[in-house]
Amino acid sequence: MRRPPDTTRPSMPPPPPPLDFRRMALQDLERVMEIERDGFAHPWSMDLLRREMVHDWSTILVATATRRGPAGSPSEVIAGFVVYWLVHDELHVLNIATAVEERRRGVGRALMDEAAARARKAGAVLATLEVRRSNAAALALYRDLGYRQVGIRPNYYADEGEDAIVMVMDL
Ligand SMILES: CC(C)(COP(=O)(O)OP(=O)(O)OC[C@H]1O[C@@H](n2cnc3c(N)ncnc32)[C@H](O)[C@@H]1OP(=O)(O)O)[C@@H](O)C(=O)NCCC(=O)NCCS
Repeated sequence: MRRPPDTTRPSMPPPPPPLDFRRMALQDLERVMEIERDGFAHPWSMDLLRREMVHDWSTILVATATRRGPAGSPSEVIAGFVVYWLVHDELHVLNIATAVEERRRGVGRALMDEAAARARKAGAVLATLEVRRSNAAALALYRDLGYRQVGIRPNYYADEGEDAIVMVMDL
């Protein structure tokens, strides 16, 4: 006999999409800017992103998932991106965002893990970042990954005079 559905248990969240990672290409700029604009009240400009693409020490990684369109044909969608610098033995995360419709499915965590793995492979031993004091989602993500707070930069974000929390993690 089939069991009646268990209505006391919350429904399971959708499984995380299988992700691939690659360096951002110029043709990704529009999509990355779209995610950036949706993610931040004061988004980076397209020019700033373009400049990050040419610095030797800077990497922009995109996380991509394969989706089936209405006709059933597979296509690649960019679910999020991370911008980081590798200088000497330090990974510095400058920016990360997940597309609004892809949040809470592990994309941010996967991007941070991928950046850390690549940095470790390149010889980095420490990861650092700054985050707005009010950014609860990002703070929760970083704490969950093992970052710890080591300081505060008062009024670091000039736009709103908001403090930055400085966080580090051993790689
Ligand atoms: C912060 C951000 C990148 C997280 O991306 P995401 O893909 O949704 O994160 P994940 O699904 O990988 O979440 C991993 C963990 O982070 C924490 N977390 C993520 N979003 C959270 C939220 N809104 N509230 C509380 N915790 C959150 C949780 O611990 C989560 O694990 P769980 O889902 O198993 O509980 C995303 O919210 C975003 O793009 N925000 C706008 C841009 C931004 O603020 N970037 C950070 C700049 S410093």
